[in-house]
Amino acid sequence: MTPEIRLTEAPAHLRHGSNIGQPLTRRDGILKVTGRAPYAADQHPPKMLFAVLAVSTIARGRVTFLDVAAAKKHPGVIEVMTPRYKPTLAQDPDAKADPFTFRLDLLQDERVRYANQPIAVVIAQTLEAATEGAGLLAPKYETLPARVGLDAGESFVPPAVGVGGQAVVEHGDVEAGLATAAKAIDATYETPPQYHNPMEPHAIVAAWDGDTLSVDTPSQGLAMAQARIAGLFGIPPENIHIRSPFLGGGFGCKGFISGPQILGIMAARLVNRPVKLVLRREQMYGPVGHRAPTRQRLRVGADNAGLLTALEHRAKTWSSTFDDFFEPAADASHTLYASPAIRTAHEAVRVDSGTPLFMRAPGEASGSIALESAIDEMAWACGIDPLEFRIRNDAKVEPMTGRPFSSKALRGCYARGAERFGWAGRPLSPRQMRDDAGFLVGWGMGTATFPALMFQGNARAVVRADGRGVVETGAHDMGQGAWTALAQIAADSLGLDLERVEFRAGTSDLPDAGIAGGSTHTATAGTAIHNAGAAVIAKLADLATRDDRSPLFGAGNAGVIARDGRLFRRDDETRSESYADILARAALVEIEASGTGAANPAALAQYAMHAHGAVFAEVKVDPDLGQIRVSRMVGAFAAGRIINPKLVRSQLLGGMIWGMSFALHEEAVVDRHSGRVMNANLAEYHVPVNADVPAMDVMTVEEHDPHVNALGIKGVGEIGITGSAGAVANAVWHATGVRVRRFPIRIEELMTAR
Ligand code: MOS
Repeated sequence: MTPEIRLTEAPAHLRHGSNIGQPLTRRDGILKVTGRAPYAADQHPPKMLFAVLAVSTIARGRVTFLDVAAAKKHPGVIEVMTPRYKPTLAQDPDAKADPFTFRLDLLQDERVRYANQPIAVVIAQTLEAATEGAGLLAPKYETLPARVGLDAGESFVPPAVGVGGQAVVEHGDVEAGLATAAKAIDATYETPPQYHNPMEPHAIVAAWDGDTLSVDTPSQGLAMAQARIAGLFGIPPENIHIRSPFLGGGFGCKGFISGPQILGIMAARLVNRPVKLVLRREQMYGPVGHRAPTRQRLRVGADNAGLLTALEHRAKTWSSTFDDFFEPAADASHTLYASPAIRTAHEAVRVDSGTPLFMRAPGEASGSIALESAIDEMAWACGIDPLEFRIRNDAKVEPMTGRPFSSKALRGCYARGAERFGWAGRPLSPRQMRDDAGFLVGWGMGTATFPALMFQGNARAVVRADGRGVVETGAHDMGQGAWTALAQIAADSLGLDLERVEFRAGTSDLPDAGIAGGSTHTATAGTAIHNAGAAVIAKLADLATRDDRSPLFGAGNAGVIARDGRLFRRDDETRSESYADILARAALVEIEASGTGAANPAALAQYAMHAHGAVFAEVKVDPDLGQIRVSRMVGAFAAGRIINPKLVRSQLLGGMIWGMSFALHEEAVVDRHSGRVMNANLAEYHVPVNADVPAMDVMTVEEHDPHVNALGIKGVGEIGITGSAGAVANAVWHATGVRVRRFPIRIEELMTAR
């Protein structure tokens, strides 16, 4: 194994002397590795009690009995919260104000709608007593048959998929395109349910003081969490203070505050003491979201020149019986490949599971493995190298909208990645390569794409009389490095050294930074910071250039530039003045301004915005046993301006590992009788460990996209998964000649296919 992971030799836009572009080590790293970074569950306020969930062992029915008396008799148990004994809520947890208010199970009644649904909360002096007490509840149920799997019931067309996307989208005549095709494929791919499994489970420490609430909990969306709590408890959002400085991973499951977190707040209200509630690993397989499985049918046509004539992508998925979230898997076909006819369509069934939710690259991850497999199959049918086939069918404009996008950057990814990998030596046919040990060797590739989105966020910047800066935004660091990358932007925005800027984030009293999701956080919060800093500099410039005692007086149209805590006349840099002097003369202790980050609607109307990449994988397969090992992967990505190459590499690397995991490891197995996930633990829910992860080579390809936002930032949190899963799957085919269309790829599928 080669531990060396190289980034591009010349990271995009490395501006020497500035903070942006520097590969800084994460600033919170030492705190984390020394155990001093306070996570939510580390909090222990005075008089705190422990709450433990009791969860249902059935997937559908009613709780008919709980032995509350036995639990309450247990030494140390203080209270047992049940549907019959709980604080009153101001809002029905099943009320649906908008598509992003998800229904929660807050003990509103005795109904059970999925396995691991909370059915009671035991509150005790110690964790052990609460755990024992929960065990003593010995629930009895009236059990109904669980509806499980993609064929569980009537299928229907969802009202919307993903974030308000249309379930069916058509462009051109797919049937005509298929009818005239020289080559056609019609293949069905299946992806399994997956669970987020962040290292840190959902946890909360809640403390009430009258109608004021203090909360420590991991969150990818502080303002949304605050609003949801406010609604449920009928208190103003400003009465709720949430601290979320560090997350042990999120991946989407901490985007919305979950039912169990709210139950922790309810428990604290019930006993009028601070309460800690931490989910056990298996309790995360139900009430906090998951990636729903898909069955995807792709019908693809191509002409004799190897150009697509039609692309149809149909995806079936599931949601819960009581709420709507639909994995937009087919939408992956909207972006990459030019075809005169494209149709994407979604359908769904309802099953007795918790409501699925956003999970890293929701839609794109599931859709990409099917699309990239189908493209690979079509390239083979046409007798064309899969890279050449992709380049030939590369969309110069977004096929569904006609808006141009950065296809040049994608071609750069293809070229750089292929060169680094040595793709040119690849035999077209499968089963052509063996290594010295006799293992079958295969090479596969996949194209990566993820939209470059922004939400809305705000920041506040201050320059103080001593010339130092403060930048505040309620941003979230779930491990991606926001503490560092956003601080780099903050320092540059104020023209200060990183050491001279205090960067504050991670609490709900700071300006709302939007959501750490959709790979948008650096773009959104970063743009807000950039604008806040620029506004402070403009105010300073105003003070100086209008004051005839300043060396900058009259700079007027020439303007000033900010650097190292000073403003310089742009046309004469010998004339400058420090921030401290400007403020002192104006008798100000500080100067402050706010900034907002949001997408520019005019640019959105004109351009399609995506990050791109190309991933190449080599696998080795034991010809006798079918065992698969990924031996190396190369990923080349173009994602606009790279704020911190070290953190970006880490994000892309993590995504690629997840993609590999998608192809080979991850699957939640649902028991078709009980409706329970049978492998709800990290021993049997397979995620890659170090031994599974080979040499990974991550490159960024320089890209300047002036349209996405002021700094040219595109996200990198999710794109690494897309392309990577397909690359591994295609490499398995190339090694073995066996096309496995059900993921994760299993040894037995390779064995039985021979
Ligand atoms: Mo991610 S699924 O956008 O947190």
